[in-house]
Amino acid sequence: MRLVVALTGASGVAYGMRFLEVCKELGIETELVISKPAALLLKEEIGKRAKDMEKLATRVHAPENLEAPISSGSYNFDGMVIVPCSMGTLGSIASGTARNLITRVADVTLKQNRPLVLVPRETPLNLIHLENMVKLKRAGATILPAAPAFYHKPEDVADLVDFIVGRILEIFGVEHKLYKKWSGLETR
Ligand SMILES: Cc1cc2nc3c(=O)[nH]c(=O)nc-3n(C[C@H](O)[C@H](O)[C@H](O)COP(=O)(O)O)c2cc1C
Repeated sequence: MRLVVALTGASGVAYGMRFLEVCKELGIETELVISKPAALLLKEEIGKRAKDMEKLATRVHAPENLEAPISSGSYNFDGMVIVPCSMGTLGSIASGTARNLITRVADVTLKQNRPLVLVPRETPLNLIHLENMVKLKRAGATILPAAPAFYHKPEDVADLVDFIVGRILEIFGVEHKLYKKWSGLETR
């Protein structure tokens, strides 16, 4: 399996970093694109540099490089994940502008009918955010908010992050043991 993974400048870059780590462990090839605002948040939120992330990816592309192979529908990849996804990037994809590599590949992913998973992190949501999400859902994208559950009894932030990473993998049908799945209420 080969996935395009993009990080944009929303809070929650730890989700993107962990997703790449898990893909590497599972032998999933990754084509990584990090937006400039995401690189700033990497440093701010988890004290990492883009270079630290790039080590985890199979191939790396600059966000302004619209000539990268992944920007073509003829390049073979199984889907795209934008984690975290800023409302700016989400809005650009919804309007089809395709002006950087991330929004272009998202556009291509939709036109080729491949899975596109967007992991937005914003709260509260305004009407523009919600309408853009509806538009993208109608176009075939999966909107997977960075909203971890608590029923698996997370003990730390890593458990919360793993919940979201697990949910993304499930969209691609990938088995994992990142969190304990809900198996009904314990009644005694
Ligand atoms: C510290 C910081 C935190 C931010 N958090 C969010 C966020 O959680 N969600 C969001 O949609 N935008 C957030 N933004 C705004 C985006 O970074 C900004 O809209 C940027 O232009 C997005 O560009 P990109 O989508 O190309 O990465 C944040 C910005 C900063 C500086």
